[in-house]
Amino acid sequence: MIEDFPRIHLGMYPTPLQAAPRLAKELGLASLFIKRDDLTGFAGGGTKVRKLEYDFAEILENNHDVVMAAGGVQSNLVRIVAAAAAMFNLKAKMVLGGPEFTSYDGNLLLDILFGAEIRFLPNDDANDHLTAAMTDWAEELKRSGSRPYMLPIGGSTALGSLGCITAVKEISAQLNTDKKVQIVLPVGSCGTLAGIILGARMFMPNSRIVGISVSRTSAAITKRTLEIISECRTLLNMPLDVQERDIETYDRYFTEYGSPTAEGQNAVIQCARTEGVLLDPVYTGKAMAGLIDLVVKKILDPDLPTVFIHTGGLPVLFSYEPEFRPLANVTVKR
Ligand SMILES: Cc1ncc(COP(=O)(O)O)c(C=O)c1O
Repeated sequence: MIEDFPRIHLGMYPTPLQAAPRLAKELGLASLFIKRDDLTGFAGGGTKVRKLEYDFAEILENNHDVVMAAGGVQSNLVRIVAAAAAMFNLKAKMVLGGPEFTSYDGNLLLDILFGAEIRFLPNDDANDHLTAAMTDWAEELKRSGSRPYMLPIGGSTALGSLGCITAVKEISAQLNTDKKVQIVLPVGSCGTLAGIILGARMFMPNSRIVGISVSRTSAAITKRTLEIISECRTLLNMPLDVQERDIETYDRYFTEYGSPTAEGQNAVIQCARTEGVLLDPVYTGKAMAGLIDLVVKKILDPDLPTVFIHTGGLPVLFSYEPEFRPLANVTVKR
């Protein structure tokens, strides 16, 4: 049982399930709810907090003294890992890659605030390069007597995915409906999707889970998600049957990881101006753009209750100031 797994407490649950009637009306949906996992309440929030509660239990249990993670400069994972490491008096050593930055903003600023030591790979955020740089650093640390723990890129461990199961348990109690429900979420390294699919099997069997990719092809997502689900099944010792056909994802709402799209930016603006809810251009904005388009194309059923999982990532928004600057309606009066 999931309750039997060691877990540390970082977040505050249940996160709200917020009705979004104005946005629903604009989109032509009978009802739309936003699962506010951006409000998990730890270090700027996000669904990753749920995952790290399980990973950190293992890190502490095995007496690691350094926690390592890697990702793009604006990685949400790195921010939350850095904060959790600080909380447990562990060192945080992070490898970041991507375009050279001119200012320490968004998540990068928070990484610094949480005390992380950072190694930066200029103009290179290829996952295998980031992992290689992190592995080399871990070897260095081991030689000097440390016990580093490395999280994979995106932080998607099977153990961590268990944390996402509880999000569906919460949605089930909050919605309390017998109707079929469509649940939409962004997909990166697939751990969140794996946990949500398993949670749906357990607590909302009458639901349809729809993943919107921010970085991978649907085929790659299916492969990785099934791998994680299989590991979760082993951990849980439960015969949960999930097949390729059960994984519904769309990979046409991104061009390149991290590159904003016009539709994603418009979704950020529309959500802010109808519900006062803040999305970001890398994850949740693209996922909302997918939701909007799938409603237009009638791939999502407008008459069924729809839940959008807001997986967090607010700090990322602040690093896209140039993209939103043209919207400014500012008059300077001296
Ligand atoms: C805000 C946000 N949403 C969604 C995701 C995707 O989650 P996963 O990597 O588990 O697919 C991430 C991952 O970095 C994220 O930071």
